[in-house]
Amino acid sequence: MKGIILAGGAGSRLYPLTLVASKQLQPVYDKPMVYYPLTTLIEGGIREFCLISTPHDLPRFRQLLGDGSRFGLTIDYRLQEKPAGIAQAFLIAESFIGKDNVTLILGDNIFYGGEAFGKAFNEFKSGATIFGYHVNDPQRYGVVEFDAQGQALSIEEKPQRPKSNYAVPGLYIYDNQVLEIAAKQRPSARGELEITDVNVAYLRRGQLRVALLARGFAWLDAGTSSSLHEASAYVQTIEKRTGVKIGCPEEAAFRNGFLALAQLEALTAQMPNCEYRDYLEREVVEEARRLDAAGS
Ligand code: G1P
Repeated sequence: MKGIILAGGAGSRLYPLTLVASKQLQPVYDKPMVYYPLTTLIEGGIREFCLISTPHDLPRFRQLLGDGSRFGLTIDYRLQEKPAGIAQAFLIAESFIGKDNVTLILGDNIFYGGEAFGKAFNEFKSGATIFGYHVNDPQRYGVVEFDAQGQALSIEEKPQRPKSNYAVPGLYIYDNQVLEIAAKQRPSARGELEITDVNVAYLRRGQLRVALLARGFAWLDAGTSSSLHEASAYVQTIEKRTGVKIGCPEEAAFRNGFLALAQLEALTAQMPNCEYRDYLEREVVEEARRLDAAGS
């Protein structure tokens, strides 16, 4: 399964923060926003990435993440010249996807808790898998309606009168049909290739699975100044309480076996003295050494 991170858009709702750095580069507590979706996919076992962004911002992402090798990944970069919708990502990344299945995550979606995504990646065979999450303000999202058996009946993009409180978060899993579906799409009234239309196409083919995310699972939105602040406060609260970081790609890569202990040690040794390095050394490297010693 390949992974696309879409980090486009003008970030106009975060103006003036986004005059210089794009939305997905803004700090969410102690790291850049894009670290969170990147970590979510690494935790799910994804190793081959394509990051899509605007001509203005793409060089910044390259500067931040490089070719991915320091995380034990590969990261390709592709340009989205104009913000023409989420589904355009599949057309832009066509040669990257090749004949594979693909998961797309939005660069401003922050998830925390549970194994739902890893399980969905492992179990995925064909068609599409998307998720449903109960929210207070469904009209801001793609909204999925269910029948009494829990089967999806409809999906609507930002409906004025939502048929349920279940919003569709920005993590989608598709088989290779997505290339053909995206190629046939027409822009919506707002001039975008809508991800919701891709999901509706799978629904019509009887090939859409909607998995509900459990209560207690956190899906945070960081697209406005106040939700960005709330997301930071949430991350800080959890990290302070547990001593464990959310959205740390180095740690996730190590725990998934993408980086060996020696590689992680070399990587942390290059970091400046800071809390982030301290965390990796203390909580990840030293703990792994202790466990190694105890096991041998
Ligand atoms: C997009 C999608 C929407 C989805 C949301 C998740 O909305 O169009 O269906 O629920 O992402 O974050 P947008 O970010 O364009 O408001």
